Amino acid sequence: MSIKNLTEEELEKRFHDRIEKGEIIEPKDWMPERYRKQLIRMMSQHAHSEVVGMLPEGNWITRAPSLRRKAVLLAKVQDEGGHGLYIYCGTETLGISREEMLDGFLTGKAKYSSIFNYPTLNWADMGAIGWLVDGAAIVNQTVLAKCSYGPYSRAMVRICKEENFHHKQGYEILATMMKGTDAQKQMAQDAINRFWWPSLMMFGPSDKDSPNSGDLLKWKVKLFSNDELRQRFIDRTVPQAENIGIKLPDPLLKWNEAKGHYDHGDINWEEFYNVINGRGPCNKQRMKQRRDAHINGEWVRDAVVAHEEKKKSEKVAA
Ligand code: 3HC
Repeated sequence: MSIKNLTEEELEKRFHDRIEKGEIIEPKDWMPERYRKQLIRMMSQHAHSEVVGMLPEGNWITRAPSLRRKAVLLAKVQDEGGHGLYIYCGTETLGISREEMLDGFLTGKAKYSSIFNYPTLNWADMGAIGWLVDGAAIVNQTVLAKCSYGPYSRAMVRICKEENFHHKQGYEILATMMKGTDAQKQMAQDAINRFWWPSLMMFGPSDKDSPNSGDLLKWKVKLFSNDELRQRFIDRTVPQAENIGIKLPDPLLKWNEAKGHYDHGDINWEEFYNVINGRGPCNKQRMKQRRDAHINGEWVRDAVVAHEEKKKSEKVAA
């Protein structure tokens, strides 16, 4: 039966049945307005995060300790920009323009990941970001690669391949430093002391304080809750830390045989909400850099549009 004749209620039920059956929703399919809005919110903020994530690492490209490290970091930062563009394109399939998304970001209405509001003080931080931040992203994004919205899940498949390279290069930086001088070991340990808890915050507030998870889990955009993915990241990361002799800064971290997980200390949620509400160590700096880049890049956007229009008019004239 053509969906034209279905009532709103029948459409909702049909959509819900499709989700329950594990079907993938494509841009041209009927979807509840709230599903579309939730995806726009989540995907656009994911894209903003990827682009802002270039800033803390970009800061160290000219300071990399060797040509090899510089080349690897350059490739990683370039990947992150590509991830942002990829996810912006995926979000545009939901009927929002790039300008609207960027406007939401540049006016501060939209969020980006809290983790990028912490400073990168030395080279070991590049290792901490690759190992912990990209490690957390892998846990999150490998699950999103199975989510119900086609363009998002497919974008994640491609992005996760590159995240694995990001994760490995970060871990290798720290493993190398942990075999180095005492000063290098201390630098690596200090970086993990600063990035461990903010990395756990990447998974969002605890489930009881997550206003969006209900919708997202119901529609299989999220397949696990914030706390479940956070726990998966902790369980995966603790043995990796032990392998290279890094101590994670949580005295309550302890394997719980009965649960099959690591017990861990409490997250500082006051810090989390301060950072996501603009009061983190680098929020102002990151937003200024992004706004300046947008203003200074206007001529590039104008040139691309002019070039496209010239090509179109030449085609018409031919
Ligand atoms: N940073 C900033 N804001 C956060 C946040 C964080 N770490 N965690 C949650 N929030 C915000 C949410 O956006 C929401 O605010 P909003 O309604 O105004 O958007 C509010 O806090 C409540 O959180 P919820 O749990 O209800 O929100 P979600 O259900 O959307 O869950 C999320 C938050 C887990 C981040 C989820 O949106 C998600 O999985 N997003 C996709 C992945 C993503 O965005 N990752 C960001 C990192 S990008 C990255 O890692 C790049 C890599 O290459 C390094």
